[in-house]
Amino acid sequence: MALSISSCSFILFTLFFSLIIQESCARKINNIMEVEKSHHEEEHNSHKDHHLHQNQNQIEPELNVFFVPNDLKLGKRMPIYFSKKDSSKSPKFLPKEESDKIPFAIEKLPLLLDFFAIPKDSPQAKAMKYTIDQCQFEPMEGETKFCAKSLESLFEFANSMFGSNSNFKFLTTKHVTESTVPLQNYTISKVNKITAPNAFGCHPMPYPFAVFYCHTQKGDANLYEIVVEGEDGGTVEAAAICHMDTSKWDADHVAFRVLNTRPGKSPVCHFFPSDNLVLVPNK
Ligand SMILES: *[C@@H]1O[C@H](CO)[C@@H](O)[C@H](O)[C@H]1NC(C)=O
Repeated sequence: MALSISSCSFILFTLFFSLIIQESCARKINNIMEVEKSHHEEEHNSHKDHHLHQNQNQIEPELNVFFVPNDLKLGKRMPIYFSKKDSSKSPKFLPKEESDKIPFAIEKLPLLLDFFAIPKDSPQAKAMKYTIDQCQFEPMEGETKFCAKSLESLFEFANSMFGSNSNFKFLTTKHVTESTVPLQNYTISKVNKITAPNAFGCHPMPYPFAVFYCHTQKGDANLYEIVVEGEDGGTVEAAAICHMDTSKWDADHVAFRVLNTRPGKSPVCHFFPSDNLVLVPNK
């Protein structure tokens, strides 16, 4: 089985991971940052959009996903980066019976690398270690987290959050019409606020099969379905969240650099990339 992570989705997911991690606490993310950095460098050396990077005041294009609640006004225009990913290249879910049989523990990493024919010390091996580490960390105060290694276990987690047999829906970011460029100015044309205390977000992790890191933080109940119209005519239905209390965040969190603020001074909102899932109870 091959590990298929395109370097672009890899960067985004590492970005979102550092986001999750830093949101929760200031845990050690040195390993993955190294991976991320080397990927960034590779990207930049070969990237046609290099000039965008320089025009955005040192903000990498992919970081144009942060905003503040005040921005959520009809007619507001802002640059947003919506990745275009080929979901056919993402790792697939295994059936629960299969994924349950595969060990998922840092002690078993050598065995896993062997099993998936992944060279030790490769970026994929580092990414697998990162994924297992993140999944094994204890949740922070007020956080509930879970790594789903199958769709069945994702649904089981939803049942445990929302009550068994409850209805829920997925919020995702969808391109309604094709955009030509990932970063462009978009105008907000619709904002729908969803207040759902138990809603949780799931982020894909790099692994040979689909693993989603799902988590929810107490007090972060402000979810949004936002419709934005791109300058090239592309319409995106975007899922977003506003974290109202950022006082416990790491001061080095990229969001503070992008929004030019600091922990506790301002809420931080962000759009979800299209491969993330937000699960919301359906009333
Ligand atoms: C968005 O619009 C502003 C102001 O018109 C412009 O300076 C900026 O380059 C645009 N950004 C993108 C990504 O097109």
